[in-house]
Amino acid sequence: MRRRLRLRGDALLTLLLSAALGLLLYAQRDGSARTTRAPPALRRAAPGPTPGLRAFQASDSGAAPPVYEGDTPPPPTPTGPFDFGSYLRAKDQRHFPLLINQPYKCRGDGARGGRPELLIAVKSVAADFERRQAVRQTWGAEGRVQTALVHRVFLLGLPRGAGTDWPEVEGEGTPTHWLSLLRAESREYADILLWAFEDTFFNLTLKEIHFLAWASAYCPNVSFVFKGDADVFVHVGNLLEFLAQKDPAQDLLAGDVILQARPIRKRASKYYIPEAVYGLPAYPAYAGGGGFVLSGTTLRRLANACAQVELFPIDDVFLGMCLQRLQLTPEPHPAFRTFGIPQPSAAPHLRTFDPCFYRELVVVHGLSAADIWLMWHLLNGRRRPTCAHPRPVAAGPFQWGP
Ligand SMILES: *[C@@H]1O[C@H](CO)[C@@H](O)[C@H](O)[C@H]1NC(C)=O
Ligand SMILES: *[C@@H]1O[C@H](CO)[C@@H](O)[C@H](O)[C@H]1NC(C)=O
Repeated sequence: MRRRLRLRGDALLTLLLSAALGLLLYAQRDGSARTTRAPPALRRAAPGPTPGLRAFQASDSGAAPPVYEGDTPPPPTPTGPFDFGSYLRAKDQRHFPLLINQPYKCRGDGARGGRPELLIAVKSVAADFERRQAVRQTWGAEGRVQTALVHRVFLLGLPRGAGTDWPEVEGEGTPTHWLSLLRAESREYADILLWAFEDTFFNLTLKEIHFLAWASAYCPNVSFVFKGDADVFVHVGNLLEFLAQKDPAQDLLAGDVILQARPIRKRASKYYIPEAVYGLPAYPAYAGGGGFVLSGTTLRRLANACAQVELFPIDDVFLGMCLQRLQLTPEPHPAFRTFGIPQPSAAPHLRTFDPCFYRELVVVHGLSAADIWLMWHLLNGRRRPTCAHPRPVAAGPFQWGP
């Protein structure tokens, strides 16, 4: 009975939000100018991430961020049991051609002018056009934000099953079909990077090393890079405020840091890692792949370091291994919530839609395209939300501003 009531509540909320989104989209359809107004003082977010196994248990314990029905396809996740044998055999093959490039993205003579101080790189999959549009038109918009010049790229591989041999067949779902769609998208937005490997969950590590190599080759002078998933909401104003205190010539990699995570040894888990693949009892410290920020210096050093680390099927752990090789530790930042928001017991659904909550964060993971739209417009609209916590609550090791 209670469950049914809750379900009805959910349906009602979805209906309300859809209506609100429709109105917002209608009101914004002329494409109003981007405004990013960071609040002058920010309250420290709720207690920082608790280290441990969380990242790997999310799917088993049911604590994963809410799933939205009727949303665009989620990033590819593994289906059957992972074939470690063939992974180990194939892992020396780690260089794949770049099929769609953006060679001028970071050049002063590029179409959109100016060298970027912040490059936003978003992991996406070919079919997820809707989410890319949401990111383009909200937090991932290119141009000047405060004083920084922000540019954006999406990182893609080939859709599963498309293969890499490019048979000369036309038609829906074939490689040529995808390639021509993505080429058209690239002509329109100049933000698509496509590599010739299969875009699967366990190939995200390939995406990582290809992106690092690309960015150090084509964006050698970028100050900072934000790298994240397409289902995150990023408060770029807060991010830039944090970066304003940092020197791009120094090492920096900040995010939702996980310490001492133990490899999952249960065969049934999608994160199962046999001892033969990783024998140590704990992974090195790493930042959750949902969203983290790094300096240009660290980017170039990581590109070199990762080229010497054996491929590991979990991309954020792999990056932790590269950091370890450089003897760097990622910097924990409590406003990066790459594992979603803990839901309070009262009004479990409302809080994730509270703009005051997002106002204090840098990255929140696990949002649908509609949520991203809604939050962006609530936070940046003409009518600013009135929040219950106008003053920062000083606590913990991290503080905004000087
Ligand atoms: C990664 O991509 C390569 C090249 O497309 C493919 O052969 C391989 O099966 C993929 N690996 C995984 C683990 O999905
Ligand atoms: C990077 O900066 C150096 C020195 O300022 C300059 O010579 C070079 O052209 C720049 N590269 C790009 C791609 O902007």
